[in-house]
Amino acid sequence: MMKQYLEVKAAHPQALLFFRLGDFYELFFDDAVKAAEVLQITLTSRAKGAERIPMCGVPYHAVRRHVAKLISVGEKVAICEQLTPAGKGIVRRDVVRIITPGMVLDDDVLEARENNFLAAVLPSDDAETPWGAALIDASTGEFIALQPGAPEVIADELGAVSPREVLVPEGSEPIVENLLRGFARRPALALLGADAFDLKRGKALLQTHLGVQTLEGFGLEGGGASLGAAGAALRYLKETQKSGGGHVDRISLQRRGGALVIDEATRANLELVKTLKDGQRSGSLLGVLDRTATSPGARKLARWLTAPLADAAAIGLRHDAVGELLERAALREGLLATLKEIADVERLCGRLSLASGGPRDLESLCRSLSAMPRLAQALGQLNSQLLKALIGPLMHVNLGELCGTLSRALVEEPPAVQADGGFIKKGYHAELDTLIDLSTSGKDYLLKLELRERERTGISSLKVRYNKVFGYYLEVTKANLAHVPREWIRKQTTANGERYVTEELKTYEEKVLTADEKRIALEQRLFEELRAVVVARAGQLRAAADAVATLDALVSFARVSSENGYVRPVIDDSQVLELEGGRHPVVEKALGGDSFIPNDVKVDREDAQVLIITGPNMAGKSTVMRQVAIAAVMAQAGCFVAAKKARIGLCDRVFTRVGASDNLARGQSTFMVEMTETANILHHATRKSLVVLDEIGRGTSTFDGLSIAWAVAEHLHDRIGARTLFATHYHELTDLAREKPRVKNCSIAVREQQGKVIFLRKLVSGAASRSYGIEVAKLAGLPPEVLARARELLKNLEAGEFDESGRPRLAKRATGTEKEKAAPAPVVDDSQLGLFSAPKKAAPSSAQQQVLAALESFSVDTSSPLEALNAINEWKRKLK
Ligand SMILES: Nc1ncnc2c1ncn2[C@@H]1O[C@H](COP(=O)(O)OP(=O)(O)O)[C@@H](O)[C@H]1O
Ligand SMILES: [Mg+2]
Repeated sequence: MMKQYLEVKAAHPQALLFFRLGDFYELFFDDAVKAAEVLQITLTSRAKGAERIPMCGVPYHAVRRHVAKLISVGEKVAICEQLTPAGKGIVRRDVVRIITPGMVLDDDVLEARENNFLAAVLPSDDAETPWGAALIDASTGEFIALQPGAPEVIADELGAVSPREVLVPEGSEPIVENLLRGFARRPALALLGADAFDLKRGKALLQTHLGVQTLEGFGLEGGGASLGAAGAALRYLKETQKSGGGHVDRISLQRRGGALVIDEATRANLELVKTLKDGQRSGSLLGVLDRTATSPGARKLARWLTAPLADAAAIGLRHDAVGELLERAALREGLLATLKEIADVERLCGRLSLASGGPRDLESLCRSLSAMPRLAQALGQLNSQLLKALIGPLMHVNLGELCGTLSRALVEEPPAVQADGGFIKKGYHAELDTLIDLSTSGKDYLLKLELRERERTGISSLKVRYNKVFGYYLEVTKANLAHVPREWIRKQTTANGERYVTEELKTYEEKVLTADEKRIALEQRLFEELRAVVVARAGQLRAAADAVATLDALVSFARVSSENGYVRPVIDDSQVLELEGGRHPVVEKALGGDSFIPNDVKVDREDAQVLIITGPNMAGKSTVMRQVAIAAVMAQAGCFVAAKKARIGLCDRVFTRVGASDNLARGQSTFMVEMTETANILHHATRKSLVVLDEIGRGTSTFDGLSIAWAVAEHLHDRIGARTLFATHYHELTDLAREKPRVKNCSIAVREQQGKVIFLRKLVSGAASRSYGIEVAKLAGLPPEVLARARELLKNLEAGEFDESGRPRLAKRATGTEKEKAAPAPVVDDSQLGLFSAPKKAAPSSAQQQVLAALESFSVDTSSPLEALNAINEWKRKLK
């Protein structure tokens, strides 16, 4: 046995080998050590000669859970089964399937509402040659070659689908790993020999697999290096699944330019599919917009959001469909009810194609198919071109036929396991019916036989029984042994009596038992036939499943648009982005009711290309900017937008960057990350892009940060021309509006009311006044002298005045440097500070002087906010 183990293990060095021994899967050596730790199960050992080898095991019925756990930490698992029954010579064993993070089919492991992609990446040797990449989802059969491109471009596109596992040629793992570093969910890496990525071999494999002479029919011209990657991905699928992979029956080339590009950082910052804080779906945009009824619908909608369209006509088609579904509420509800009856047909087909599906998969496929004509019928009442186009795939004749076959063949509620039969309906197959009759009529027959023999022998306690060793036998207690007829054959003596068989019993047994065996074998054969029919229809099934998913996603958009009062945006080729009464769809939901305050925002090429947005902390700067970016994403994904009126000039890319110290989710983000990301924007943004910069420059010292922010804004204005929203805490940046024609200052209004700052949440023209900290102090009741001085000190600080020893010259006064000569508080000449301008005053009182002295010596750097507040309180008391 151990020899066999070692042979199998040698063939699968990269996977943890689950070796079937009776009712357990056992792991040995390092596999056992690793698995015991991850699974928290006991590590034991087994004697082998003089030494002991580590081992652990899991019962066969719990294997799915344990495999799921190992996959979730990025391990691979090879399942080795017994291929011949135990007890008849040496048991043959071999690996029947390898489960890897990118190659799982089990519903326990798969996230129903997410695709489970494996990516294959083929890096190039030099900077000029583009990289190739391909994606394959073994559970649904989707197979995509990406247009070859620069590494960062490939990374963005992979990031959009967040693959679980990335296949790379041996030796390239460092550069690929480096490329994937920014991914929110780091995929597992899998290695394959470089020859598996060979372009010629890849093409040949694809051609044989897809059964074509040339790949041109799939539009793969220009696939280049990506075909090598696609070949490797397909090879990996076949090798791990030990199957032909028949459901992967097409491949498409995903060309660039068709989609609105959203990079990883933007997707994260806008919380498109999960929240920044805890990575949850709920609380993200997807969480609000996804009200789909089916898992394929949910996956489709998520992909629409992460890769929206960039073509006005295509977007228009989706908007038409959403609009019509929105208006026809009753019909929409009907569609939704029918959608709920439909299972995950893509994955059902995947499982059945890879020979891991069971009778229940056939049955739920059958139920799903029978619902599709009802969808088609409802769609017939609508006019939208996109919706009408779904009718064809839903009504394909082959599917009706398949549905008929399946419903004739399968019982209503088939058993979960296929091995014991019992899932084929009576009347489907004549031979099977006879066999079923034979084995089920057995009970009647036995009862009759028992009665007959009782009467004949007069043994009233006579029983027909069955066990595995003798088959059927007659049991007679000791007291009745005298009545046993001569022709009975004694088989066994027990403590209480004797066991006999008769000729009749044996003949009967032969018939019944073989009937049972034959019945089960026949059912397996019929199952395989049905499975083959399904696999042969994989193409039509997938087209139908895709139509269901599309419809589901559109219905979901219509539902949320109707419930949340979204409006159809005007989409054009202008460079305008205008929201009237725009809202943030997620914050709005979180606040509930109508407490969210809508805002009008307009960016264009005329005089408001770059909006500099100022306002105190918590005013709502980030929210208003994000809602603009989100509106663009939603609109181009085909949804209506959270506004009263919207006009969106097509965007080619959306960028969102958040200053380092504001960027909680990415952990210890450094200034370097912030600048790398900013550089990325400046390299890739175009006039058609939308750029949202949220307090960029925070990660460094004030002057550096301000200078960088200024230069970046200038570059976006002068050179790139992208629509830009720039929130900043550098008030100086508002001066840019004076110099640049298309820079406009906005701020979020606040108001003072009864000693409190009220956040009005309204975006207004013009810059905010800068000194909100001091304003808050004023609201707290600080005397004008102190405020004036504080303002002066602030100015000194901002001017960065230092004394000879390098310490801030805090004490420096506008009218003199000596404390004793302290002059009255100065008039602040900055007109923007009008709100805070201090009145001219007479010489300070001694209390005031004391306070001023204390203020001078107060160390801002080493004090906590609480200490500062206490100090202010104390000064106030003194001044009373
Ligand atoms: N338009 C609005 N209506 C209602 N509440 C808002 C609005 N905008 C922002 N808020 C609330 O204010 C909080 C702070 O907003 P945020 O955009 O983070 O401010 P800032 O970026 O200016 O510091 C948000 O968490 C939200 O609860
Ligand atoms: Mg903010």
